[in-house]
Amino acid sequence: MLEKIRVIANSCKDNIARTSSLEELNEFRVRTLGRKGEITRLLRGLKELNAEERLAVGKAANELKENLEKMIALRNEEISIQQMEIQLLNEKIDVTLPGLPGQRGGKHPLTLISEEIRDIFCGMGFSIAEGPEIESDYYNFEALNMWRDHPARDMQDTFYINDDIVLRTHTSPVQVRTMEKMAPQTPVKIIVPGKVYRKDDDATHSPMFTQVEGLVIDKAITFGNLKGTLIMFAQKIFGEDVRVRYRPSFFPFTEPSAEMDISCVMCKGAGCRVCSHTGWLEILGAGMVNPRVLKYGGYDPEAVSGFAFGMGVERIAMLKYGINDLRLFFDNDKRFLQQF
Ligand code: PHE
Repeated sequence: MLEKIRVIANSCKDNIARTSSLEELNEFRVRTLGRKGEITRLLRGLKELNAEERLAVGKAANELKENLEKMIALRNEEISIQQMEIQLLNEKIDVTLPGLPGQRGGKHPLTLISEEIRDIFCGMGFSIAEGPEIESDYYNFEALNMWRDHPARDMQDTFYINDDIVLRTHTSPVQVRTMEKMAPQTPVKIIVPGKVYRKDDDATHSPMFTQVEGLVIDKAITFGNLKGTLIMFAQKIFGEDVRVRYRPSFFPFTEPSAEMDISCVMCKGAGCRVCSHTGWLEILGAGMVNPRVLKYGGYDPEAVSGFAFGMGVERIAMLKYGINDLRLFFDNDKRFLQQF
């Protein structure tokens, strides 16, 4: 029996060395150590031997089994390494080929313009304030001198959460909110970028749009400060040669109020379809802060004065980029968005 084991051991060693693939090696393992394998059968036959023989043969057979397992594992590793080396030799990788470009996102044109507006005003010493888009009737209308039945509310019809809570129709409520926080300190010099909502929907009006508000309060602020600041802004965003004009207007929260036009960016003032042949484009509303609003905010109108302005970011983006339909901003069409 012991002799037989020695013979098997020797032939197994050769057989393992001769295997050249993982499949072959596995076949060999099944043939010897598998459930019906040679060694397994040998071990099962032990019970037919007498006690003395069983001890000696059993020991030898178990050693053989363990050795085989080790040799198979070793050969397995050898073959795997060989195969990998062959694969590496045959595989040609050209590291100079250009890679697959990743899909890179970009900023939305409205974000780009908002950032540009913000940078211009921050350059003039303004800081940024924010307020809630779901706003109380008080801040959106009342404290801006637009009481319940005020006709000016008509132009700013909006979405009501309930009788006292609305989606804000402009960024002007942040004027009062900021004054409440700051009063009686001066100067106040803020811009307020943000989304606003109105019950409008056509090629030039959308139920949601973007505004940038401005507010300056200090001792002895005049309409001259307002003009100087906004002319500077217009030249920075539309170019040095842009001309501006002011027309009298009305807002309940400013007195006097004005609208600022710029010379048409398309025809330079000669008259074209974009400016309805007037040569001018309206870009923002502005005025001196109404003394009643200063009072609502906690300031003494005898001690300080201020100016405020509000502009639509979509409109400025449309003029700057030559976009003719406001809805393009919100359609999420990549062909449009990729141009910026
Ligand atoms: N809030 C006004 C609007 O949305 C714009 C404005 C702001 C006018 C500040 C004057 C001063 O129409």
